[in-house]
Amino acid sequence: MNTPTAPVTPRKVTKAIIPAAGLGTRFLPATKAMPKEMLTVVNKPIIQYALEEAYEAGIREFIIITGRGKAAMENHFDYPYELADTLQKKGKLAELELVTNVVPKDARIYYTRQGEPLGLGHAVWCGHTITGDDPFAVLLPDDILCRNNGNDLKRMIDLYETTGQSVVLAEEVPAERTSNYGICDPAGPVAGGAMPIKGFVEKPKPEEAPSRCAIVGRYVLSPRHMALLANGKPGKGGEIQLTDAMELVAKDEGFQAHLLQNPRFDCGDKVGFQMANLYFAMNDPYIAPRLQPFLQQTAAKYERRQAPREA
Ligand code: UTP
Repeated sequence: MNTPTAPVTPRKVTKAIIPAAGLGTRFLPATKAMPKEMLTVVNKPIIQYALEEAYEAGIREFIIITGRGKAAMENHFDYPYELADTLQKKGKLAELELVTNVVPKDARIYYTRQGEPLGLGHAVWCGHTITGDDPFAVLLPDDILCRNNGNDLKRMIDLYETTGQSVVLAEEVPAERTSNYGICDPAGPVAGGAMPIKGFVEKPKPEEAPSRCAIVGRYVLSPRHMALLANGKPGKGGEIQLTDAMELVAKDEGFQAHLLQNPRFDCGDKVGFQMANLYFAMNDPYIAPRLQPFLQQTAAKYERRQAPREA
């Protein structure tokens, strides 16, 4: 086996790719004419949560991978002249603030199209002209990460900048669920919330899984990934898989997994999406006290329906 050789002085990570060109079939018909990434959790589209998290972690250049029918995302991040003017004239200054400060002043957003949804690896590669020779983060906007216990992406960036090794976010899953995820193959024990890894196993059966650490939607990747993706051959399902490039990098440069320290919601799935809405709503001082009695009544009705009928 090759000895991993990471770059000696890794560059700072200030660029992020946000793949948002997928079809969102699990949310049809809502996503027939609207991007999945624009579905709202309380009052913000899910892609805005990713942008805010990445900005807080130090990202200043955002590369959003778009596709057909995704123009609403560009409109969302644009400056809304007419709306801003109307809100200003009506004196609605709080609302004005909400629509004009969606993108911080020192952040730049680039959009690039993925002509066909050929998989996550291909979507990431579509950002290569902007990442150039720099390392970059990847955020799958479907995953909303809470930040009450610090910013996990920031910790991943710090780990990359100190070790020079790419970092994937990992969450421990129950043994029976390993076959739903890419699973990390550990090269050593967990220390300080991170674990060195030597490779990845795609959707293993529980008895074949090398760990229970599942890859979830955040990555900090060395520039080498782009070169590998450029020559990427379609893997599982005819798609260009990001994990195929990561596997090669793990062998050559070494790789780290950062273990998630916060709640995560998979908003690409209907259940995770509803949970995210309830979680953020119950943290909102206006909504929470009004929603709570309704939730209790609804849960009680559900329990009564589920209870076995008395003979
Ligand atoms: P998913 O596979 O979860 O998204 O990809 P999807 O294909 O849109 O969803 P379903 O399964 O049909 O409901 C995770 C992220 O990667 C992006 C998606 O937009 C999503 O944000 N993606 C996926 C791309 O940008 N291009 C692709 O070819 C595939």
